[in-house]
This record gives sequence, structure tokens and C-alpha cells, in this order.
Amino acid sequence: MSVFVYQQGKLMAEQVTLASIAEQFSTPCYVYSRQAIEQSYLGYRQALNSRGANQHLICYSVKANSNLAVLSVLAKLGSGFDIVSGGELERVIRAGGDPAKVVFSGVAKNAAEISSALEAGVHCFNVESETELLRINRIAAERNQIASVSLRVNPDVDAQTHPYISTGLKENKFGIDIDEALSVYRHANRLNAIKIVGIDCHIGSQLVSAKPFADALQRVLALVDTLAEEGIELGHIDVGGGLGICYQDEQPPSAADYVASLLDTLGERNQSLIMEPGRSIVANAGVLLTTVDTIKSNEQKNFAIVDAAMNDLLRPALYQAWMNILPVNESADCPAQHYDVVGPVCETGDFLGKERLLAIAENDVLAVCSAGAYGFVMASNYNSRGRPAEVMVDGEQLHLVRERETIEDLMRGEINL
Ligand code: LLP
Repeated sequence: MSVFVYQQGKLMAEQVTLASIAEQFSTPCYVYSRQAIEQSYLGYRQALNSRGANQHLICYSVKANSNLAVLSVLAKLGSGFDIVSGGELERVIRAGGDPAKVVFSGVAKNAAEISSALEAGVHCFNVESETELLRINRIAAERNQIASVSLRVNPDVDAQTHPYISTGLKENKFGIDIDEALSVYRHANRLNAIKIVGIDCHIGSQLVSAKPFADALQRVLALVDTLAEEGIELGHIDVGGGLGICYQDEQPPSAADYVASLLDTLGERNQSLIMEPGRSIVANAGVLLTTVDTIKSNEQKNFAIVDAAMNDLLRPALYQAWMNILPVNESADCPAQHYDVVGPVCETGDFLGKERLLAIAENDVLAVCSAGAYGFVMASNYNSRGRPAEVMVDGEQLHLVRERETIEDLMRGEINL
């Protein structure tokens, strides 16, 4: 159930009005609900209840929202983490996450990142190529350590999602071709500083059907069986992330149904199941607040020019993503009209929504919904705009969990000649 609901015409975040948050922290500003994050994480955990504690691990995908407060809420619940860089590893550690519950994904991990992950003692590396396997082996040997690895295989399954976030096809750069994976496993098995612990695949993001996941898992299981015949026994199967959410009218399976379908495909196997959900944990736990600066109309269009832009929230510009836009105060005073909700950045692609029916006036505050995932983390300083503040709501309490960037922040590290 959404925690962002109208009460007497005011859009709430848990027990606080979004209007009061905008007033206190100004806009643009991301707002996250602790309760919503916890609910979605616990939804996964409950769905996995039938498997013993050692038989599953939920590794929240840090890239979806890496604010320390978000990570620490999840770490307190015992979540593991899926990371893709040394920076994300450091965030997990600072947020109190357990490195032994970290899987290190990512297309080409560099030597420094591999070293720091070995130092921290991550659960495993999800290896994406033979080159990377050899690099991990060399660095682990130099450190007198054994590196635990799982190979990320590319199962060549169509995730039926936006092409930019589809990752499991042969034409995509990700993973090791499933037909070549057996020979890479054999190679890994001969390396002195490598311990094979699992297998991994991730076919894409914002999937709205359980079917491609099950298809991919089936292909992975066939390989798991072949490996077992060769004496290579795996401890875990990592199915990646990718479960979609409802932005507009999509009807993705619930976490419970999605997990049930995976468990069904998994059958009686004794491997532990690792999952890497990102979006489905945090997307609907966040909104982006923005103020209408100017209303401008011509013969064809009404524009609501707002103070958030593509640099604050890139998804509409990059993927033509539809994200709901709601006024934080319902108003009967102004007529509803169709607006293009656009930012002040100098690009035609700078929009948050097009042709939206809204009853709004200048200075009204709007909430862009489902912005908790791939929102702030994809923000940039384009047009020398400071990135927005981030606020976490917890019941009646408000916590500023990232300060708005200042002009000083913008130029930090630059040198004037
Ligand atoms: N595991 C791996 C290896 C991944 O590459 C990803 C996401 C995830 C897990 C988490 O997937 P999720 O459960 O969030 O779908 N910026 C895009 C999404 C990019 C996803 C990249 N990989 C967007 O805004 O839609």
C-alpha cells in the first residue's frame, strides 16, 4: 500500500504533508519513506520464508538508491547488498552493512576495486569475463587470499523491457555467453586463488512478467546440472534483480508471486537463492518534489516550467519514462489543463511529463511519483545546477539525509588558471 496518499486534499508522506516538507527543505527535493522501504524489503523476506535462513539472501541493488540512510535502514533489517563499484562498497560499509552479505557485480571491476572487496571480505564476485576472472585470481594470489566467485552468465532471454535496460540478450555487453560458461567454469576450477561458489544472471530491469525470469532460471539450472556432473557443485544461484513496478498501468507480479514462480522453477534444489532487487524495493518509496516556477502557454501547448529538471531526474528524458505527477495540494481554484511539465535546462528533452492534466498555478508544489529508484543516483550537475536535497520520513519525523549542493560544492576540486 502506498504511503503517499491524499488526506483531505493534501498529499502525505507517512504522517507528514509533502507541502510542509517542501516548505521546510525547499525544492527540488527527494523524499523517501522509511516505512515503504521496510515494507517492500520485508515483502521479499516473507516470500522467501519457506526456505531456511541459510537458503536465501536478499542483496538490495545499491545502484537504485545509494543514499547512506536508505542503505542503513536496509542493513538494520539484515539485508545483503549488490554493488557495482568500490564507491558502492564503501557506502555499504559506512551504512553498517555486512560485507559477507555483499555480491560484487559490474562489467569490468578494476584492480583497486577487487583489492578492496577482498580486503572487506565480500561474499563473492559476479565475474563477467575470463579477463576479469584472471585479474581476480592474480590479485587474490598476491594477497594470499582465495576469492569466491560466481560467473554471471548471459542466458540470451528477451526481458521485454526498454532496450536500454535489457541486459540478457547476446547483443548486450553483460555476462558470459551461457554456451561458453562451462569452459570458463572449468578454467576457474583450475585456478589456485579462486573458489567457485555460485552462478548469476540478470536479464534486465522493469520486467512486468515473471515468465522471462523463469525462462532464464531454467537455462541457468541446465548449466548447474552439467556442472554438477563434472563435480563442480555450486552453493548458490543468483537470479539478479529486475522486478518491475507500476508507474502508470503496468501490472507486474507482486514480489510474493515473483518469488513463488522462482521457487517453483528451482524445485527441490538445495542451493541458496540470491536475489538482487533494486527498483522494487525503493521506487515507490520516493517522490521528487518540485515547484511550478512559470506557467506559459502558446497556441499549441501549456508549459508548466518547474524547478526540477533532467539533471535531477533523468528517467523521462533518457527512457521516455512515464512517471506520475501530482499536486501536493489538491486545488479547486484553477481549471485543469493539459501541461508539458518541463525543467529549466537548455534541452528540448528536458521534461518530466508531457500532456498531463493538472489543476495548477505558479508556486504550486508537485510530486513526481515512484522516484525513489534511479532518481537521485542518476542526477548530474548539468547546467551547473546543484543536486537536490534528500529527506527521509519516518512516521512524523523528518531527517535531512543529504544536503542540497551549494555553489561551493559545484566547483570543488576545480582549478582556475
Ligand atoms: N543486478 C544487476 C546486475 C543489475 O545490473 C541491476 C540493475 C540490478 C540488479 C537491479 O535491478 P532492478 O531490480 O532495479 O531492476 N536506470 C534504469 C535502470 C537500470 C538498471 C541497471 N541494472 C532505470 O531508471 O530504469
